[in-house]
Amino acid sequence: MDEARIRTLIAALTELDGSAVIPESQITQIDIHDDWIVVNLTEAEFPRAKLGRVHAHLAAALPGVEIELRSGGRIFRGGDGFGARRHVIAVLGGKGGVGKSTVAVSLSLTLAAMGFRVGILDADLSGPDIPHLLGVHPKKDRARGRWRASAIHPPKERRTAYERWGLEVMSVGFLVPERAALAATERWLVANLLRNLIFDVAWHADILVIDAPPGTGEEIQVMVRELPLSGAVFVTTPQDLAQMDAERTLSHLQQHAVPVIGMVQNMASLTCPHCSSPIDLYAASSRLQEAGVPVLGRIPFDTRLSVTADRGLPLVLGDPRGPIAFEFARIGGGVRRWLAERDLDDSQAA
Ligand SMILES: Nc1ncnc2c1ncn2[C@@H]1O[C@H](COP(=O)(O)OP(=O)(O)O)[C@@H](O)[C@H]1O
Ligand SMILES: [Mg+2]
Repeated sequence: MDEARIRTLIAALTELDGSAVIPESQITQIDIHDDWIVVNLTEAEFPRAKLGRVHAHLAAALPGVEIELRSGGRIFRGGDGFGARRHVIAVLGGKGGVGKSTVAVSLSLTLAAMGFRVGILDADLSGPDIPHLLGVHPKKDRARGRWRASAIHPPKERRTAYERWGLEVMSVGFLVPERAALAATERWLVANLLRNLIFDVAWHADILVIDAPPGTGEEIQVMVRELPLSGAVFVTTPQDLAQMDAERTLSHLQQHAVPVIGMVQNMASLTCPHCSSPIDLYAASSRLQEAGVPVLGRIPFDTRLSVTADRGLPLVLGDPRGPIAFEFARIGGGVRRWLAERDLDDSQAA
């Protein structure tokens, strides 16, 4: 395999009017390894459909080789970027404390129980809680310090994720030891760290759930702009303010054409300890619903969620037949249907 052949393969791919899908002048460099070919393109923002066509064409011509296209800060390995029929889903919410991490963990376990291979990536630099929630406590991470290089390694040299309850697990907390060191939110730090955790880990997962940082700041914007997100799930509490924050994030998503799968309304009601029926805590706000975001499910306030969390045994596992696990099954079902439709659209477009 040589560079000239790859350039010829790319040049052969044309639009209906005969112009190249990606003109040769847009290829800056091609790195060839045994099992991995990286085609570097200029910074121009190439539409995903173009990248998808080039990727599929090269992948068909070069079976058994991982094909990677790069442009600016973005990496593309097929599908929505993470790979064909592989998806990265961000769990977002405006504020901290709304239950993002709780939902990310429960949704991941639910999708795994449905038969998907699932990974969870803790991207909350200022509060990496996923290891605690899952009871993963690496003594000394083999990768610590390595992320600074921020290079992507060939497939066989990539680090593996941790495993817990059938999930693959990675956390920014494994790589950046001290919370104090996390104040740095420079664009390059966040972008490099997360890109590295997605593309330089040998994930087996078909669905990677990202527990996103809170807020509407730089981290979220970089995430939405540069990571290969298939879609986003919002976690909101019924207070209007929390939803206003979410609205700001929603507009970032729309700007970068990242679809919203739906929202999980958390802590909107209380489960009566005597009769188990829900007691509403707030007058529901419908801001996000009015913006067209469907409701995937509603999780009541239930103290068992936080108690079991502190033991590192998520409630959906501790009480798999209970009402919370049941509601998460509904949420997971909504996500599964959404992904199935997305894969169907992809195969029709191909
Ligand atoms: N539905 C719920 N019922 C009771 N406690 C909850 C619920 N959802 C989350 N919590 C608790 O609220 C706190 C914040 O949740 P967390 O998932 O860490 O939020 P975030 O990741 O958005 O900051 C945690 O202590 C968690 O256990
Ligand atoms: Mg959290």
